[in-house]
Amino acid sequence: MKQEKNQMDIILPIVHPEIESYMRTLASLTDDSVLLEMEAFAKQQNFPIVNRLVGIFLATQAKMIQARRVFEFGSGYGYSAYWFAKAVGAEGQVICSDINPANQAAAEHYLASTGLWQRLNFQIGEAQDVFLSTEGMFDICYNDVDKEAYPEIWQMAKHRIRPGGLYIADNVLWSGRVITQNDVGAISRATKAIIKHNQMIFDDAEFETFINPIRDGVLVARKK
Ligand SMILES: C[S@@+](CC[C@H](N)C(=O)[O-])C[C@H]1O[C@@H](n2cnc3c(N)ncnc32)[C@H](O)[C@@H]1O
Repeated sequence: MKQEKNQMDIILPIVHPEIESYMRTLASLTDDSVLLEMEAFAKQQNFPIVNRLVGIFLATQAKMIQARRVFEFGSGYGYSAYWFAKAVGAEGQVICSDINPANQAAAEHYLASTGLWQRLNFQIGEAQDVFLSTEGMFDICYNDVDKEAYPEIWQMAKHRIRPGGLYIADNVLWSGRVITQNDVGAISRATKAIIKHNQMIFDDAEFETFINPIRDGVLVARKK
């Protein structure tokens, strides 16, 4: 299972690819033409969206706590927001943030015809700035920005999640790099940031935390 790309970058498939593929085949009822187009675009552009299984997981988490207000740090072109928007219902809102205006345009292109675009409030800018300029509490804060910012985002988000609400972060196993030996001076800033982020959350007694190892690891922390 272990592949070494080079001495500095150790990649481990976390869940065996054939098991993920089996799980994906079980989920064919979630197929719809917009999702298939968005997934084809990700493949073509090599854009790191959460995949179908994680999308279903996000929507399920949101529905289980009857989430109505979600903040996304790092929305890309709206694939994860598609799932949250479906889950929050017609009265709900997903505040999206991304640094790249082209992503906002692509999200509108894909989601306008679905009726989900109206549930999004898509803001362009540093996600941290957008968050600070948005008032109120959230049912879910979802983190998927550049990994160096993960600890900072956790620290700002945790105070604005309602009791019973969730903090969710993608890529927390970082292709297995989280178990890279700390004494290898080459450990990247992103890897260090994720290791710090994960430990801070598990050490926070205000939250109950679990990592679902699907795809690249999805952390869910529930505020008590
Ligand atoms: C992994 S992609 C998000 C994918 C999206 N959550 C999905 O699954 O469909 C990360 C996105 O975050 C944006 N990004 C990275 N760091 C950011 C920051 N600090 N503020 C705002 N956007 C950021 C990038 O432009 C990119 O579109």
